[in-house]
Amino acid sequence: MSADPAISEATLIGLGAMGSALAKAFLRAGHVLTVWNRNASRIPPLAALGARQATSLADAIERSPVILFCLDGYGSAIQLIDEYALQGRLKGRRIIQFSTGTVGEANDFAKRLTGYGCDCLDGAIFSYPGGIGLETTPILLSGSADAYRQCLPLLRCVGGDLRYLGQRAGAAAALDMALLNQELWSYLGAIYSTALCKAEGIEPSSLVAMLPEHHPARQVIEIIDKGEYANPGATLTTWHRVARHIQAQARSSGISGAIPDSVLELLEQALDEGYGKEDLAALFKVVGDKRSRAQ
Ligand SMILES: NC(=O)c1ccc[n+]([C@@H]2O[C@H](COP(=O)([O-])OP(=O)(O)OC[C@H]3O[C@@H](n4cnc5c(N)ncnc54)[C@H](OP(=O)(O)O)[C@@H]3O)[C@@H](O)[C@H]2O)c1
Repeated sequence: MSADPAISEATLIGLGAMGSALAKAFLRAGHVLTVWNRNASRIPPLAALGARQATSLADAIERSPVILFCLDGYGSAIQLIDEYALQGRLKGRRIIQFSTGTVGEANDFAKRLTGYGCDCLDGAIFSYPGGIGLETTPILLSGSADAYRQCLPLLRCVGGDLRYLGQRAGAAAALDMALLNQELWSYLGAIYSTALCKAEGIEPSSLVAMLPEHHPARQVIEIIDKGEYANPGATLTTWHRVARHIQAQARSSGISGAIPDSVLELLEQALDEGYGKEDLAALFKVVGDKRSRAQ
C-alpha cells in the first residue's frame, strides 16, 4: 500500500474568532498558510505572524492544495464560490469545511464540491477558540478518507483528539449537532439556575461550590457573577446560529422541534436587546431579572 503524501500547505477562508485561532495554530506549527477574509482588516495581525496574503479570493484558492472554510455557515461558502466563480479553480483540491451546519448541509456541500472535482472532508471543532491546538481537543471528521490521511499534519494542529467517523459526509455534523445541543442546554441550565439563586438572595458562588471542579457550568456562572460578558470565545450570535442549525436538524430528522424552538425564542429576544456580541451568559439579562425589567 502506498503512503499518502502528507500536505502541510493550506488556504484558510474565514478569519473570525475560530478562523483566526486556527490560523495561529497552523503558523505556530510551521505550515505554509494563505489567508482570506471578507473583511480584510482581520488579515494584517495574521500576516504579521507569517500568513501569506492573497491578492484575491481566486488567488487564495490557487495557492494551496488544501482549502479550509471557517465561515458562519455552509451557505456563505457556497455564496463565495458562486459570486467569485471559483468552481474551476477548486478542481483537484482537498476541502476541509469547518463551518457548523446540519447533516443535510454537510451532505449537499460535499456533493456539490465533489462535482467540482474536489476531495471533501467535513470537520466539527468541539471547542472554543482557546482550546485549539490542545491534545485533548476533540475534532470530528467525516468524508474522504484520502483527504483525511493527507491532511493529518494540518488536522493535528487543530486538536489532538481526532475522530474520523467514516466516509459519509454528514457523519461529523450529525454528532456535532447532538453534542452542541447537549452543551447549549448545559449552559442554559447554568444561566437559569443562577437566576433562581439570585432571585432568592443566594450568591452564585454558593451554586459554583456545589458543582464538580471542572464542570463547564462553573465558567458561565462566574461570568454572570462578575458581569463580564465581553470578548467571548463564541458570541451569543454564534450560539443563535447553532440553535437554528439544531432546529433545522430536528425538523429534517422528524423529531419534535419544541426544545430548540423555546431556546430560539429566548436567544432572539437577547439579540433584539443588543447582546449579540456578548457571551451566551448574557442571556441571564433576559431571563434573570424579570421584576426589575417590569418596573
Ligand atoms: N467560536 C467558537 O467557539 C466555535 C466553535 C466551534 C465551531 N465554530 C464554528 O466556526 C465557524 C466560525 O465561527 P466564529 O466563532 O469564527 O464566528 P465569527 O467570529 O462570527 O466569524 C464568522 C466568519 O464568517 C465570515 N462571514 C460571515 N458571513 C460571510 C459571508 N456572507 N461571506 C463571507 N464571509 C462571511 C466572517 O467574515 P467577516 O469578518 O468579513 O464578517 C468571519 O470570517 C462557525 O460556523 C462556528 O459555528 C465556532
